[in-house]
Amino acid sequence: MRIDVFTLFPQWFNWFFQQRHLTNAIQSGGLTARLFNYRDYSPLKHGQVDDTPFGGGAGMVLRVDVVCAALSAVYGGDCRAVKRKQPVFLLSPRGRRLGSMLLDELGSCGDFTLLCGRYEGFDQRISDHLATEEISIGDYVLSGGELAAMVLVDALARRIPGALGAEDSVRLESFSAGLDGRREYPQYTKPANFHGWQVPDVLLSGNHAEIEKWRRKHLG
Ligand code: ADE
Repeated sequence: MRIDVFTLFPQWFNWFFQQRHLTNAIQSGGLTARLFNYRDYSPLKHGQVDDTPFGGGAGMVLRVDVVCAALSAVYGGDCRAVKRKQPVFLLSPRGRRLGSMLLDELGSCGDFTLLCGRYEGFDQRISDHLATEEISIGDYVLSGGELAAMVLVDALARRIPGALGAEDSVRLESFSAGLDGRREYPQYTKPANFHGWQVPDVLLSGNHAEIEKWRRKHLG
């Protein structure tokens, strides 16, 4: 899966893409990530990328001509045609909420593009004409789409075989089919007793059938 991220702040992703599960996913060949800065493709003097909203109001709005130029430069041809080749998702608080169902869809949709917004938002024509769909990570406004893009990529990357150490940790994590879509059971580690806080006996018993039963019972 190749994920292309368009942003005004590609450096935000430097730390993110150095994290172990992401380098694993990339090295295993399961994930390719590319970063593009809208500013590098601005057709305007001085690399301008945003402007004041028509009708007045606070802040600046990302320009449709700049996003179009960036998409055309990266994919070639008409920017309107990009979404016919691969999905183009716009990160915005107005979008469809990211959850395990949408993640399943993203995991099986092949290569896709993420457009991060900044400032007060996007020119609506970006959403109407250049994007397939808007995606939100929650009912709150972030200062830009970058953190939302990282949340989305992180949640997808950990599903790529080899990204995490043990395959079971994905298979049996919260919301997975292995747990019937429910939240994971509680986990404990050493010490077995801390300040009198005792780990449930059954988990120390070595009786795997009983442990399995206990875990099923304690799914969220
Ligand atoms: N950009 C700003 N806020 C956002 C959110 N909640 N989800 C996705 N993108 C955003």
